[in-house]
Amino acid sequence: MGKGSGFGKVILFGEHFVVYGFPAIAAAVGATTIATVRRTSEAGWTLTDNRPAVPGYKKKKYDEQKVSIDHILRFAGIDTSEEGIHITLGGKLVCASGIGASAASCTAIARALNDEFKLGWDDHQVNACAYEGEKGYHGTPSGIDNTAATFGGIVWYKRDLSGGPPTIDTIKLKQPTDIVIASTGITASTKEVVDDVRRMKDEKTKWFDQITEDYLELVETASKGLEDMDLQLIGLLMNQNHNLLIEIGVSCVEIEELVGVSRQLGAWGAKLTGTGRGGNMVALTPGRTLQNDVFGAIKQRGFSAWRYQIGV
Ligand code: MEV
Repeated sequence: MGKGSGFGKVILFGEHFVVYGFPAIAAAVGATTIATVRRTSEAGWTLTDNRPAVPGYKKKKYDEQKVSIDHILRFAGIDTSEEGIHITLGGKLVCASGIGASAASCTAIARALNDEFKLGWDDHQVNACAYEGEKGYHGTPSGIDNTAATFGGIVWYKRDLSGGPPTIDTIKLKQPTDIVIASTGITASTKEVVDDVRRMKDEKTKWFDQITEDYLELVETASKGLEDMDLQLIGLLMNQNHNLLIEIGVSCVEIEELVGVSRQLGAWGAKLTGTGRGGNMVALTPGRTLQNDVFGAIKQRGFSAWRYQIGV
């Protein structure tokens, strides 16, 4: 039996902008999806999905998940026409739109296949395989989610729009810091939201160019801020990044409520993370007391929330 895991992630800066070749920064969270792969005598592949998830998540993603697994098997060159495989997914990562659950599962399956079929892949090949899997979930993934899921830590990621390999750099924090992630409970389709943003970008080029110009300055400052462990600056920039995401129309009432509560309670910054139009919010809450306060207030309002550290 082969086994592998993939990290969940939060995008600290640059969701959506990363699709168009702008740099983005993502951090792995301390929860993973674990995949096991077992050979079977029947042809084809079967799946047992034991991952914890917000209600509706797995059903909504199931069709895309099937395409994703086919992509992964094709990339790995595994032919199941005579002997098949059974994949089991589990682990502590709670699947919710925005936490990189699909990417975490792609990485976990790629690693499990690597283990079972002795493919000899390094992390870059695992990542390339997970990227193929991500294409099953939405046609044009930037690759940031699978990169965070594979490498962990904090990554600076820039896609090469001409099809070459992406630029991946690691950002080291002087010490880990606390965050709260909260789920709106709404599972967004990444494909639909990304397609909508693209439509707006194509229709209003000048408007989008101005936004991305502001974003580029912001993300470069953020990278330096993380290296200097200037968390006050990072919080401020997260808020500014959130405003840009509102401008491109990917926030929603529930995200605004979560961002509002977090800031009221003293979070240093709060923004939507991932696809938006539902999905998750991330709040920067250095120190256990602040983290617990924000977490408690969000839970009291009936939302699911998690306490993590980034930069571990
Ligand atoms: C989804 O987690 C992040 C998006 O930027 C899409 C992508 O990068 O592929 C919305």
